[in-house]
Amino acid sequence: MRSAAGKSGRCRQVISSILIHDDAVITNSQPQQLRRTFGNFHGDDVAALPYVAAIVHEALRLCPPSPALGRTATSDVAVDGYRVPAGSLLIYGTAAVQRDPALWDRPDEFDPDRFMGAAAKTHDRWQYAPFGAGPRTCIGDHFAMLEATLALATVLRRIEITSVDDDFPVEFPFTLVAAEPIRAMVHRR
Ligand code: HEM
Repeated sequence: MRSAAGKSGRCRQVISSILIHDDAVITNSQPQQLRRTFGNFHGDDVAALPYVAAIVHEALRLCPPSPALGRTATSDVAVDGYRVPAGSLLIYGTAAVQRDPALWDRPDEFDPDRFMGAAAKTHDRWQYAPFGAGPRTCIGDHFAMLEATLALATVLRRIEITSVDDDFPVEFPFTLVAAEPIRAMVHRR
């Protein structure tokens, strides 16, 4: 499987625009602006970083670390007209569903705007499930989003990253990982 995590031109545009998007929100608050300039981000800064969070969501859509979920049917059940006897192993293909052209416009294109504002509320609960769903959903989802958003914002306020290649291959020996090094240019801001 090859991931099309965005054409390079699109990636460049997206990555360099991150701080422009969220700066407008951050600079509305003097304490947050000072922290942004001189100190570390804190948990309560995440609300002021919606575009960075959208980037993390979109990355998890194109490259879900867990590309499939498994469930065992505990009773006979019908799924979309198919009989599933108790004891059957059911696989939910997260990576396939999250790129299904029937569910997503331009499914292979990296576009964080899918997770901004009203657009984010149009997704069905089972259309986007990088953290799983149901009674055994990931208990660390909010913590993971908080940590990833603040880590990405912390890196990007000091350096600018631009992709070199249009695409990069992924593989899933168990979790989904890059199959080769992902080449990028890194510049101090
Ligand atoms: C980007 C980061 C993460 C991703 C993509 C992720 C994804 C997942 C997925 C797909 C599942 C299976 C859910 C299901 O079957 O419906 C899961 C389960 C779980 N995750 Fe995460 N996870 C992440 C981070 C974390 C963190 C930070 C913690 C703990 C602090 C955590 C703790 C757990 C636990 C305990 C379960 C098992 C829940 C259960 O079986 O009841 N995860 N995670």
